[in-house]
Amino acid sequence: MIRIGMIGAGNFSYTHKRAIKSLDGCEICAVSDLIEEKAAAFAEGINAKVYTDYREMLEKEKPDGVILNLPHFLHKDITIDCLKHKIPVVVEKPMALSTEECDAMIAASKQYETPFAVGHLAGYSKSGQALKKIIREKTLGKLVAMTEIRTCNYFVNRPKWFLDKKLSGGGIMMNLGAHYIDKVLYLTDVEPEEICSVISNCATEDNVEATAQFLLRLPDNVSASGTFSGCVSSGQCETTFYFSKGTAQIRLGLELWISKAGGDFEPVVVGDHNEIMNGNMTEQITEFMKLIRGEENHATTPEHGRRVISVLEKILSE
Ligand SMILES: NC(=O)c1ccc[n+]([C@@H]2O[C@H](COP(=O)([O-])OP(=O)(O)OC[C@H]3O[C@@H](n4cnc5c(N)ncnc54)[C@H](O)[C@@H]3O)[C@@H](O)[C@H]2O)c1
Repeated sequence: MIRIGMIGAGNFSYTHKRAIKSLDGCEICAVSDLIEEKAAAFAEGINAKVYTDYREMLEKEKPDGVILNLPHFLHKDITIDCLKHKIPVVVEKPMALSTEECDAMIAASKQYETPFAVGHLAGYSKSGQALKKIIREKTLGKLVAMTEIRTCNYFVNRPKWFLDKKLSGGGIMMNLGAHYIDKVLYLTDVEPEEICSVISNCATEDNVEATAQFLLRLPDNVSASGTFSGCVSSGQCETTFYFSKGTAQIRLGLELWISKAGGDFEPVVVGDHNEIMNGNMTEQITEFMKLIRGEENHATTPEHGRRVISVLEKILSE
């Protein structure tokens, strides 16, 4: 049985908890949060030990692996601390606040001979995997362009640290745009040759970007653009991929639909959204278990997480 420790018992930790509960061969042995009640609430129903100091948890429980579900500014230091304890990590996305921090994490992984993975999901998702095959096999011809539109009320009902650049690294682009950059890099396997962007803060009092629009030039005349807006909006999340002989669409980040030669869109991956998300998360944990055991795996690598940060840095520095 692989024993996993959870550090940070906030909103998204429950999605990890659900995935781990639905798998054989692993369990959450302990949870740590600065706020004891949050850790205790998380531990309900799974018999996990509760801690407010993650170091004490690492030392007493010696978990086989840990998941970091923390504010972004803590990703670097706590990942490195776990690696020092020789405990493999899944650190939630985005990997860290800067490429410099990513480099320090990668160096620590080598120094302490302990692997870690980053919580990007494109490589685990059925939609991502199916679309990558469509691109590779040219089922819809050559991929020429892609775009994502994502809008939401970013500044409503969000833990405060997300809205402070020092703690989060950025706003809607850093947080939600990271998912799109993950998709672009996973699907194309190339680095952007040129990046231009315009960002603004929608006149909110917070110091993180509320809107970002950008264009990435990829090799071979392929482009990837995006429009992210966290100003008051009805909410939209759609990624469209334009090919020479058709179109593909990832809807709400989960479903995959394709249109061949201008025909109606047909479903490729559809279903209950909670189930699709749980499938992506269980794949992540399955690959993490292989990483812990030293087996061959396709866990999202730190190098991929760093590439995402490198693109985000350039978009946000414009
Ligand atoms: N992969 C995805 O689809 C996805 C979705 C949502 C969030 N996320 C990521 O998950 C992470 C957490 O997001 P969230 O929405 O759960 O945030 P959150 O604010 O709800 O949770 C963070 C938790 O960390 C705790 N914490 C802070 N400092 C701590 C410390 N030193 N030790 C232990 N606990 C500490 C806080 O008390 C809080 O409970 C972020 O990296 C976010 O980007 C990923």
